[in-house]
Amino acid sequence: MNNLLPKKFKVLAIETSCDETAAAVLEGYSGKLPKFKILSSIVNSQIKIHEKTGGVVPEVAAREHIIHIMPVVSEALKQAKVNLSDIDYIAPTTGPGLIVSLVVGTEFAKGLAASLNKPVLPTNHMAGHLYAAFAQKPEKAQFPVISLIVSGGHTLLLLMKDYKTYKVIGSTVDDAVGEAYDKVAKLLNLPYPGGPQIDKLSLEGIEDYNFPRPMLKEKNYNFSFAGLKTAVLYFIKKNKIKLNPQAKANISLSFQNAAVDVLVTKTLRAAEQYGAKAIALSGGVAANKHLRNSLASACQKNKLKFLLPEFDLCTDNAQMIAIASYFDLFNGKKGVKPHTVSADPAWELK
Ligand code: KG4
Ligand code: ZN
Repeated sequence: MNNLLPKKFKVLAIETSCDETAAAVLEGYSGKLPKFKILSSIVNSQIKIHEKTGGVVPEVAAREHIIHIMPVVSEALKQAKVNLSDIDYIAPTTGPGLIVSLVVGTEFAKGLAASLNKPVLPTNHMAGHLYAAFAQKPEKAQFPVISLIVSGGHTLLLLMKDYKTYKVIGSTVDDAVGEAYDKVAKLLNLPYPGGPQIDKLSLEGIEDYNFPRPMLKEKNYNFSFAGLKTAVLYFIKKNKIKLNPQAKANISLSFQNAAVDVLVTKTLRAAEQYGAKAIALSGGVAANKHLRNSLASACQKNKLKFLLPEFDLCTDNAQMIAIASYFDLFNGKKGVKPHTVSADPAWELK
């Protein structure tokens, strides 16, 4: 608990780490237990633009952020029914992410904070995903929690002892799972981003080709997904698979079963080893139906609570950044002077 916090305060969060320009307003309350309310959350997605190039071109993303950041922030304030002068802290995502994208949100936030004479809370994007799972009834969370964060750039397994004390116990040694989804989708000539496409197509799969489960048996909590993607590529080449709709569906099903199997098995093993009371799932790939359902039933079987963000809190947004910055304040961090802040694309959780 942070004794210096005002009784009631407002945070304006700004997220521009990749290809979504987002802003959100949160009202936080000081006290022994965490308490906050989301007043607004606006996301402008660039998916339609990056679809054309089959992925994010950083300079294009940055230019789009510059165009949209003002209207997105204005809309977030309007929906929250607050004025800029009501804001107590400005919380931009300062890392990790694409440097040219991060710089837009960070510098915008610094300028705004300087003009209002308000402090900045530099916020970690992955902490945003981590805390997004605690948006509902944060005061009721039971620890330890094993948290699985699966996104386009990261695959992390964390042990949380409480809201302040957490450590990374496993991560990917090569590609992130979202990246593997996107690359396999490309092999199948599916549009960007591939994750949701594979999710949908897999429902029509009727045959599982039993792809390898990398690092499943290793006694650590690391993951590897590059080999799985290569196994899919070789399978298509070796068997001269014609990529008709049924073959695409079968490959989607087989790839997804292998990826989810590894994620769920290792997460449950960690929960058992650390005596977890709950498992949390977040990040863009947490929108995946098979992963959500598999972890939910594994938690039910093992009498563990399952913490899962609402669907629109899984992929990038500023609400999760507002929540992470709230927890930073709750845990005793203070805002800093705008000129001391800079974007850090390599800011990893430890
Ligand atoms: O968290 P996020 O929005 O951005 C990053 O921080 O990376 O995650 C984006 C990733 C992409 O790789 C996308 O394909 C994947 O999340 N994704 C999914 C689904 N929805 C998004 N992957 C599998 N199934 C989904 N339904
Ligand atoms: Zn993300």
